[in-house]
Amino acid sequence: MLLFSRALPSICHGGRAPRYFPAAAAAAAGGFRFQNSSCTVSSPPTVHRTPPGFIAAVPSVPPNPTRQTPEQGFAPLPLSSFSYGHDRKSVLVRCTGLDGGRSVEVEFGDESVYRFHSAWLKDSSPNSVGPDFYRKKATDVLSIENFVVAGASIENEGGSLFLHYRLADGGSHPSSILPPSYTDTLNAKWLYSWAPYVGQQIRAPFAGAPGAPPPSLASGTGSLLDDLLDHRTPWASSDFQMKEFDAQVLRSDKEMQKEFLSHMMITGAAMITNVGPPRNLERDEIAKPLESLVFDFVGKMNQHPVRKHNCGVIRTNPSEHQGADYDMQNPLSMHCDHSLYHGTPGFLQFMYQAQGKVTSRVADGLALAEHIRIHHPDKFRLLRDVKLTYASRNVLYTKDGKPRHVSVPISESNAGSDGYPFELVHTTPILTFENGRLIKVVQSETKRGVCAVPFELYPQFMEAYRLWVSLAEDPRFVKDFHWPEHTVVVTNNWRVLHGRAVVAPGVERKMVFGYVNKWVAENRFRYLSQCAAETADPSLNPAWLCRVPNQVLSRLLSSPRLSSSQ
Ligand SMILES: [Fe+2]
Repeated sequence: MLLFSRALPSICHGGRAPRYFPAAAAAAAGGFRFQNSSCTVSSPPTVHRTPPGFIAAVPSVPPNPTRQTPEQGFAPLPLSSFSYGHDRKSVLVRCTGLDGGRSVEVEFGDESVYRFHSAWLKDSSPNSVGPDFYRKKATDVLSIENFVVAGASIENEGGSLFLHYRLADGGSHPSSILPPSYTDTLNAKWLYSWAPYVGQQIRAPFAGAPGAPPPSLASGTGSLLDDLLDHRTPWASSDFQMKEFDAQVLRSDKEMQKEFLSHMMITGAAMITNVGPPRNLERDEIAKPLESLVFDFVGKMNQHPVRKHNCGVIRTNPSEHQGADYDMQNPLSMHCDHSLYHGTPGFLQFMYQAQGKVTSRVADGLALAEHIRIHHPDKFRLLRDVKLTYASRNVLYTKDGKPRHVSVPISESNAGSDGYPFELVHTTPILTFENGRLIKVVQSETKRGVCAVPFELYPQFMEAYRLWVSLAEDPRFVKDFHWPEHTVVVTNNWRVLHGRAVVAPGVERKMVFGYVNKWVAENRFRYLSQCAAETADPSLNPAWLCRVPNQVLSRLLSSPRLSSSQ
């Protein structure tokens, strides 16, 4: 067994040889002592080999805040950054080497003890990646087992774990970018967040240790946004107030952007004011205020398969008749968009009132589902379990991506210059659940195709479906709201249904709409959460916050700091 000393040379590769001496000798000489959260070294004798079972020690060198290894993409964190309060439960209080340096056992402030593979510690270090956050060398993984941890120490009041790697006896590293001997520093809070996922638990935290159990990786990628699913409040029309966000603040304030995306999960609808007018109302200009705004605080909207622009436009007097969906005089029942598209890519729906003012309406699909679950449980199960098919052939655009009259026949001879049809089909239940939580509502009566509802379920299902459609129009659930010119209404299209706006007689109206995919919104929220964490705790920087699963990041971000938990 190796006991790891506190003071190791800051850069070992190619420099002084570490000094080693037998454990028994060290103990007799008082060479290594763990004192509370740290261990000390006192004048060990010089030995240059490390037989198995010996304590590894190295000359005592004061920590150097500026130490840096040229081969490392990231400079170790400045030691001064650890002077901020640490989360008490994640501070390191003990470290021990095992299996000839093949594993490292650490104890945290909550008394939990975990054993880590040294290879995992090496492989997972931010030092393995460059400033592009990609691994520097694809072949390093081939020699990862050739290194062992020869020494380690707890630094910065338990805020970091300093590791000294050396080449294992008989090992070689022909492909490694790292020298035979080198050092590394790992953030304790980062290591603590990883421990339940990759460590072998030797001792559980004490019973009263704060913090929730780590989120499961069972669902795969996961999502910080989905962490908010349990914080949602279903709303009826009488409860709902359209929250407003100022466009100019949203463009620049990351905290506000994070709040906005949280609001899209917790409530699901909001209005963005102060967006301003387009330069003109022509097709190439009318969408620019919306495109610019959404890009500034989330990212680019998704691209339609054929349409020239990533935004669609609905006008009171269109030049081409694009069918019922684009006819403002045609009443639409409450619905979700993108029901036709496999997987419902449109997660956030943005609708910009470029001209005119109207009254429109929204309803909370979560509230509808909850109402049916409580009062009509049999119908609820059918809406959850029976899959409907939404399908159509899109003939709305030319191959140049311009709107076209849908009644003009498409022939082989003019398919290139006139219509450019494409097929759409999506089979899904109205209510999609994951881990017991409603994650998506998909329903649009005009897009409903021919559905394979089994014979024995058809009567009951259609009864449940008609209940859903009726309740979606029920004033108890539908909230009418005033929608001024040059404002944007945003809905969580996986939750909130919307209807056709009422345009007063004589009012010219032009509305621009577009969508942001869920993965774009999720990863923007992840980035904004990382930025907030960096601001709150300077010991955390992108080196620690990037490249980790959402579940580990969620645990990392939820760790209270020592200063706030005292
Ligand atoms: Fe719609």
